[in-house]
Amino acid sequence: MNNLPDNVTQSAVDSSEISTALFVSENPPINENRALNNAIVVHCFFDSQKNLDDLNEFQLLAKSAQAHILTVITTSRSSPQAKYFVGQGKAEEIADAVKQYQADLILVNHSLTPAQARNLESLCDCRVVDRNGLILDIFAQRARSHEGKLQVELAQLKHLATRLVRRKTGLDQQKGAVGLRGPGETQLETDRRLIKVRISQLQSRLEKVTKQRNQNRQTRQKADIPTISLVGYTNAGKSTLFNLLTDANVYAADQLFATLDPTLRRLHLKDVGTTILADTVGFLRDLPHDLISAFKSTLQETTEASLLLHVIDCADTRKLENIEAVNQVLEEIGAQDVPRLLVYNKIDQLENVKPHIEYDEKQQPSAVYISANSAEGLAFLLDAIRARLTEQILQLPIRLSPSEGKIRHALYELNCVEKEEINELGEFLLNIRIEKVEWLKLMKRFATLAAFNPIQPEED
Ligand code: GTP
Repeated sequence: MNNLPDNVTQSAVDSSEISTALFVSENPPINENRALNNAIVVHCFFDSQKNLDDLNEFQLLAKSAQAHILTVITTSRSSPQAKYFVGQGKAEEIADAVKQYQADLILVNHSLTPAQARNLESLCDCRVVDRNGLILDIFAQRARSHEGKLQVELAQLKHLATRLVRRKTGLDQQKGAVGLRGPGETQLETDRRLIKVRISQLQSRLEKVTKQRNQNRQTRQKADIPTISLVGYTNAGKSTLFNLLTDANVYAADQLFATLDPTLRRLHLKDVGTTILADTVGFLRDLPHDLISAFKSTLQETTEASLLLHVIDCADTRKLENIEAVNQVLEEIGAQDVPRLLVYNKIDQLENVKPHIEYDEKQQPSAVYISANSAEGLAFLLDAIRARLTEQILQLPIRLSPSEGKIRHALYELNCVEKEEINELGEFLLNIRIEKVEWLKLMKRFATLAAFNPIQPEED
């Protein structure tokens, strides 16, 4: 964040300056203080079938945000009520429950208007977070890249901007601090103004970061260490798999790495060496429009991964829709060409499915069936990952004449020579280990190399 070539000066507004009272004490991020996360979940059914899928998914999201669910209150309506979203009677029931359970948070599984959130908040005297607010909170936990963090902050501020309201706590009193607000300006107006300033700063930073990213895209080298990204629909079992893969593999030096970013770990694989395993935020169907760019930005790094593990809950009745939703987003963020391995998880919940690998027409593993809970199929998965990663690496013997010193030099520059001997004719006999993409580039520079392995680019 520090070295950005933009013109944000010392007087730049930071989100933390925006009404400390609103931002920190009244609306802390849900996961900031465990003690404030005792929540009542509210869900409204709009059809007679009372399908529980959405409610179940919401409860999992709440747990992801470290909320502790005290109770769930449901109601049925044909449409939202203007004042509280739920009806008057139900709103009073929620208020009673807040007292009874001493809840400090109401999580509503719908998009509330600012007025509904405010009304419910003052009736219940308790913080209210709606579905969008909860999802943003999870994104904020998971955003890793600079761009991702900016995008999420922007979405959070836009969400907050519409929710800045007069509260009983006297936040609208005039405070008139020098330099920040004009005479007679209320705290509320100041907050609105600061949010506007911060939003436009974030927008201009984002424009620059996005431009830089696009410029760099062609020239960017893949990181030296291959990255394997876990992607998948929420609740597919990504984090369970992430822990399974890395727990067997942890060593002391990773501790620091883990504390810096709990969603990245080193993974050592036989024949491949060190890789980085990255967990990502779960996908959701029907993501509110305002949150789509924030969500995509949390996944931006997956476009640079060497391999995507698409984790699928194979026991989920909505499995196919979930796969489709994930594929669609991967395409939208430009990750469609990253090699992908499907990981069908939770086979313990299906009858007659044993751990196994499926292969594509090139005899490369395309799907693996496992249970991350019981570790069944782990060995298959590791084999498949290894095969998919080594598929991208060529190991070749090369013979160069004494006049081909330039090629030899280029190979050494790429650090891919594993062994070298000189024969009686003065020829260099090299064993090299090189990524396919690098080999293709070398063949363009030195056409004679095609004699050793004339592979073609898959698609240009
Ligand atoms: P998000 O963080 O929401 O994206 O979820 P996730 O994909 O990281 O899923 P997570 O690992 O949190 O697992 C979700 C639930 O599925 C947990 O209750 C796990 O215990 C359960 N689970 C994961 N793997 C398996 C499995 O192999 N079998 C069974 N039966 N349950 C599993």
